[in-house]
Amino acid sequence: MTKQMTEHKQLRQHARKHLEAGAVTHGYQAGRGELVHLLNSALASELTCVLRYRSHHFLAKGIHANAVSAEFLQHSNAELQHVDWLAARIVQLGGEPDFSPQGLIERSQSIFGSGQNLYEMMKENLIEERVAIDHYREVLQFIGSDDPTSTLLIQKILQTEEQHADELASLLWGLPEQHN
Ligand SMILES: [Fe+2]
Ligand SMILES: [Fe+2]
Repeated sequence: MTKQMTEHKQLRQHARKHLEAGAVTHGYQAGRGELVHLLNSALASELTCVLRYRSHHFLAKGIHANAVSAEFLQHSNAELQHVDWLAARIVQLGGEPDFSPQGLIERSQSIFGSGQNLYEMMKENLIEERVAIDHYREVLQFIGSDDPTSTLLIQKILQTEEQHADELASLLWGLPEQHN
């Protein structure tokens, strides 16, 4: 409560400098290079999730396949939305979103697996969602209170990943372990 507010005139002086930096202003406190690196790693993870879910969507076979396959497609599309959000934020921070397929898996926290049956696919996706949840929590800790816009973005993504994990867990417990 005792923190002094910057005077209006001084705020304007700061704002007029380095206009080319766009949304990155004088008051930006986060480690920008490191954050861009983290966001690019998240982008690679999301791209991997897009591909894994889409692959599972087309590979799903078995008596419960229709509902699960539709869920995989829905999740794949949600992960693509996350890719777009992350890329847009990286550009706002003055970075370059890394879409290169070269080294994608090395940059990604997520793996591209192809489950042998419906049960294995769902288990794999649930594990990857849980990895993403923990990773995004760490990213939030890294940002702290230094970049509220990136915090909001990661919270929004995290919320969807928790929904995904919850939906997968519910579907998974309804399935027999084999013959799917
Ligand atoms: Fe995602
Ligand atoms: Fe997800």
